Amino acid sequence: MADNRLIIFDTTLRDGEQAPGFSMNTAEKLRLARQLQTLGVDVLEAGFPIASKDDAEAVRLIASEITGPVIAGLARCNRADIECAGESVQAAERARIHTFIATSDLHLERKLRISREDCLQAVIDNVTLARDYTDDVEFSAEDATRTDLDFLCCIVETAIERGATTVNLPDTVGYCTPDEIEQFFTDIIGRVPNADKAVFSTHCHDDLGLAVANTLASVRAGCRQVECTINGVGERAGNASLEEIVMVTRVRGDRVPYTTQIQTTALFPTSQMLSDLTHEPVQANKAIVGRNAFAHEAGIHQDGVIKDRRTYEIMRPADVGVAQSTLVLGKHSGRHALKQRCEQIGVELSRLELDRVYREMIDLADRQKTVEDTDLSAIVERVRAQQAPSETRPTQQSA
Ligand code: KIV
Ligand code: ZN
Repeated sequence: MADNRLIIFDTTLRDGEQAPGFSMNTAEKLRLARQLQTLGVDVLEAGFPIASKDDAEAVRLIASEITGPVIAGLARCNRADIECAGESVQAAERARIHTFIATSDLHLERKLRISREDCLQAVIDNVTLARDYTDDVEFSAEDATRTDLDFLCCIVETAIERGATTVNLPDTVGYCTPDEIEQFFTDIIGRVPNADKAVFSTHCHDDLGLAVANTLASVRAGCRQVECTINGVGERAGNASLEEIVMVTRVRGDRVPYTTQIQTTALFPTSQMLSDLTHEPVQANKAIVGRNAFAHEAGIHQDGVIKDRRTYEIMRPADVGVAQSTLVLGKHSGRHALKQRCEQIGVELSRLELDRVYREMIDLADRQKTVEDTDLSAIVERVRAQQAPSETRPTQQSA
């Protein structure tokens, strides 16, 4: 694989599905998995099989139906989890067990109540066990970015020694800053003697809104797998958003020179499908896939976009699967956008009519947020009905 190729690890069906409001049934998970296959993700984390019978069933079904991406199942570092994950992904064309254990003192002492030695032993035992099921084993050190660096280096070296082919170091609570996580990965990759035997992976949460920036900083330090979700869904504030990472590489390849095999035109349909399946709306101003991402209401912006779209758009809507930009008619809109919208609904206005329709449209927009085509047609009709016969030329209704 080329050195600048990023492996897109999608965890919408695991970290995403685990967030409040985002649970899906097996049929829904399979539908989304098919869409993720179309999107072109490299690794599809299908679930956490030990969590429930339904979870295990969904992972099993996805593993047997979906070809192309590696299918991963999550497992804690214990025998029951690994056996369950191993059996669940068994039917996959390419199966991965993703096993994890927390490594920070805070998690070891307060949550797991085990020593560092116990933690290291769990890594030894369970990475070895996972390799009995598949050659593709990912090890994650939960809360890695708050873990003592010497201990983490020892854990990572051991995991690789025992056969982990991918090492994921999550910023589990979204605590890092970009410069910090870049240094963190540079240090680990530089210090662990067998680091070249595994792919390093980053998994950033968005508690401070830095997940995508932290992901890109990790890539700069040598990570070649990025873990992310559609619409950035996931625990608490969510995970790094897949569509944002991918489009940064497309739009700013000059600064972020990495490639992916994502079919970007499937980004918006995938985002919509997730929203439909979970009944969770996408934030209106969400980058790339929000309904305002290619919508313009301010008159100055509308005028610019009508003259040359690039004045206010840095990517083509079609490139991410959005049909077209929208000029929203509201109280900030200008005459140019109004005229264009009228033409789109088949109405040609004289200068005088345009002035009158514009005034009425602004009045209405003051009372309601936006003016729809039906509102506009009604305004045009009213303005025309009020006109003296001598004022009616050269208007015409063409459709
Ligand atoms: O955020 C996290 O640490 C995780 C691991 C289980 C990979 O989701
Ligand atoms: Zn996570």
